[in-house]
Amino acid sequence: MPTADTPATLPTDLAADELVLQATSVSKTFAAGRTGFGRTRVSAVDNVSLNVRRGESLGIVGESGCGKTTLARMLVGLERPDSGRIEVAGRDIASLRGSGRRLLSRDVQMVFQDPYSSLNPRLTVYDIVTEPLRVHGVGGSSAARRVRAAELLSLVNLSPDMMTRFPHQFSGGQRQRIGIARAIALEPRVLVCDEPVSALDVSVQAQVVNLLRSLQRRLGIALVFIAHDLAVVRHISDRTAVMYLGQVVETASTAALFGDPSHPYTQALLSASPEVDRSRRRSLGQRIMLGGDPPSPTDPPSGCRFHTRCLFATSICAEQVPPVVELSSGHVALCHHTDQAREQRGRSPELAAAETTETAPRVG
Ligand SMILES: Nc1ncnc2c1ncn2[C@@H]1O[C@H](COP(=O)(O)OP(=O)(O)O)[C@@H](O)[C@H]1O
Ligand code: SF4
Ligand SMILES: [Mg+2]
Repeated sequence: MPTADTPATLPTDLAADELVLQATSVSKTFAAGRTGFGRTRVSAVDNVSLNVRRGESLGIVGESGCGKTTLARMLVGLERPDSGRIEVAGRDIASLRGSGRRLLSRDVQMVFQDPYSSLNPRLTVYDIVTEPLRVHGVGGSSAARRVRAAELLSLVNLSPDMMTRFPHQFSGGQRQRIGIARAIALEPRVLVCDEPVSALDVSVQAQVVNLLRSLQRRLGIALVFIAHDLAVVRHISDRTAVMYLGQVVETASTAALFGDPSHPYTQALLSASPEVDRSRRRSLGQRIMLGGDPPSPTDPPSGCRFHTRCLFATSICAEQVPPVVELSSGHVALCHHTDQAREQRGRSPELAAAETTETAPRVG
């Protein structure tokens, strides 16, 4: 096992730029109970495509309820998409059975939002971090596993002496480190982290974020990082995807997304964020306030799902699903009017005039 100071040997069957995780047009709906019109369904994720390259970090951000957790659960195989395809290192996970399925769980692991409910309170730290090794029949003798458990705890900056303790003896930040140690035990290619710091005290959030960043760089693990706030996404992500009401509306390198936000929703999200620096805020114009609450995912708007709140909406936006527009290499947005949105961005008087007094988007 590599330590935090010695780089791991990366999987040799993947080229440097090869995709380790790929979602193609995945959608997921859930039953939402009965209404007077019969059964309704929630459209949690709709036609999402994204990919993760070896060793990179991809941030995903969007309002509460926009489908981030559902997408994360599909990426790790905990939820099956209704349609679309998820591939891990080129293998369609829907086709995997038995040993193939077990191999998938070696390749893709998840770090959960709540470090209190995600660790079994009756197991010691040793049992927790070595459980994946036992399940997969790797790690050798129990003595070898103890050595490995000590290595894993060192990797997440916990003392190996702690391995005989139980979860309740740890703080939230320490529990999340234990969850991370368990997730990296099998040296996965991809770690999907679903808001891994949002349940933690602000004082320890940065430590856990920096730990994940350092593990990503030193061990060559790709990260999918779903974050509560834009500053964290900006800090940790090489690329960023913005979700709105079940769809990814813009994806770009993190520098391009924060420097040249081109989807009206991304612009609104950034303009409402206290983390966006003052010079950037000037170029975004005034704070953009969106009209109304997000629409219900049980009855998403026709055409562009953002059209009921968008400052740039025209009739086509309500009628036709927007195309995926490539703005530059790797920078794509789902919008009929990216030219207008980009052109207007610098002109604060127009945006100010278009402001409403209603709610700003809330991420998380
Ligand atoms: N198991 C489920 N059953 C019914 N609805 C669900 C279920 N899981 C998620 N949803 C709904 O799907 C939508 C997306 O939820 P989620 O993926 O948790 O979003 P986020 O993580 O961005 O807050 C929400 O409207 C949520 O209520
Ligand atoms: S397609 Fe239309 S409504 Fe949707 S974001 Fe673009 S301009 Fe706004
Ligand atoms: Mg969530």
